[in-house]
Amino acid sequence: MPLSGPSGSLPLPAFLEKRLFSSTPRTRSLNINNINPHVKEAKYAVRGELAIKSEQYKAQLAKGEGKDLPFDSVVAANIGNPQQLDQKPITFFRQVASILENPALLDAQEVLEKSSGYKSDVFERARTLLKDVKSVGAYSQSQGAPGIRQSVADFIERRDGYSADPQSIYLSAGASSGVNALMSVICASPQTGVLVPIPQYPLYTATLALQNAHCVPYYLHEESNWSTNVDGMRDALKKAQKQGIDVRAVVVINPGNPTGASLKSEAINSVLELAAEEKLVCIADEVYQTNIFEGEFQSFKKGLRDLQKSEKNKDGKFDNMELASLHSISKGMVGECGHRGGYYEMVGFDPEVVAQIYKFVSIMLCPPVLGQCIVEMMVNPPREGEPSYPLYRQEYEHIFHSLRDRAQALYKAFQEMEGVSCQSPAGSMYLFPTITLSRKALEAAREAGKGGDEFYCLRLLDATGICIVPGSGFGQKEGTLHFRTTFLAPGTEWVGRITKFHKEFMDEYR
Ligand SMILES: Cc1ncc(COP(=O)(O)O)c(C=O)c1O
Repeated sequence: MPLSGPSGSLPLPAFLEKRLFSSTPRTRSLNINNINPHVKEAKYAVRGELAIKSEQYKAQLAKGEGKDLPFDSVVAANIGNPQQLDQKPITFFRQVASILENPALLDAQEVLEKSSGYKSDVFERARTLLKDVKSVGAYSQSQGAPGIRQSVADFIERRDGYSADPQSIYLSAGASSGVNALMSVICASPQTGVLVPIPQYPLYTATLALQNAHCVPYYLHEESNWSTNVDGMRDALKKAQKQGIDVRAVVVINPGNPTGASLKSEAINSVLELAAEEKLVCIADEVYQTNIFEGEFQSFKKGLRDLQKSEKNKDGKFDNMELASLHSISKGMVGECGHRGGYYEMVGFDPEVVAQIYKFVSIMLCPPVLGQCIVEMMVNPPREGEPSYPLYRQEYEHIFHSLRDRAQALYKAFQEMEGVSCQSPAGSMYLFPTITLSRKALEAAREAGKGGDEFYCLRLLDATGICIVPGSGFGQKEGTLHFRTTFLAPGTEWVGRITKFHKEFMDEYR
């Protein structure tokens, strides 16, 4: 098409007019006003201003500068990054991974067994995985290696007592990329809405912002240990529908981030019932399924299969219910988040929709293959009687107990802090206490141009080097203030730093 403009008959579009005839020379194509506005809109507080500032402190200390800082180490309690905070990798996983990366080690079995504590099942597992993927340097099937998906299906069957189909399992680069694939397909227009718990892990609000879709918030009940209230969910849904929003899915994070709550089967069933009645896709984020300190984990998949078999399904309302359940190698006792591995299982979806999801993931080629192999080891760890089992069990138990003990220590400290109240830790890797600040503190926050929670967290970082995240980053009920901290950092010395800071802060603004 020929260009028109001042000399032609049709006017040029404004952006082109500016490009061609602007008097200021352009130095770049992109500026903050012409990039995708949805990227600008997306917020992700767990790696926001506080995290950046804490990285600067860390760099300063590493260079031997910062002698004037009131702390000598930075504690990244802002993010669930277990191995960054000294959680040791599980030996079996890494021994197998070392062979996967360097298959020549298969010829050194005797030496490795004698000198480095490798056991025979490490070599067997590496051989099996290499047979499936050929090389961790090769692309796999878009959906993930078939043998690994079979292993995931077997795990789900052992866990839930119901069979799973490897064809319905999609391996992914962490749960995040699964969420991205699902949301990219679910969000069809700016009218699309997804019910998201508040507070929530900001992956969900950020992904919806990127998709230019609506986050429809439903509030979790802090008073009853951050439980999911289905009536509140229904109200939120109806309100959104009245505003013309096409609500298509509901997200549940169980165990919760940032809340640390763990849902009982009745709560899971009532969410599934609502989803079935309202024809919503249920997205069950179950990445913390092994971080459970109270009761037992129950999956949404089991809940759905139980309901499908029950009296409640006499009219068949659960038969075609769409459920996507996500899991990850990032959390739990595995903590291999840098390897980017995870999976999601989809049940009840229309095959034509599944084909589009398949196409979407194939555009990304495949998830990291070493990450896929770690998924396999997570779902199929050494079993009793196998040579690597005793060490695996010992490492797993040690990590589990030390996480639980640290959660308890932190919870105890919060209980003793003035103006702080916290639900007891039931699961995941976080505590999310409420903090009540004095009028004077809130005034100081306003003067600094910050919310009360942000101001508190910034002051904590500046005074102690401990980085936590203000509740506003996850969403919180109007008029309440919270912060989220992980309990992954080793030792308890840093808990003492928080208690001391808190007392001084409260005294300063009394
Ligand atoms: C609830 C929840 N879902 C998903 C993720 C993302 O995990 P992954 O590393 O598997 O992408 C996280 C990470 O913190 C999370 O807390």
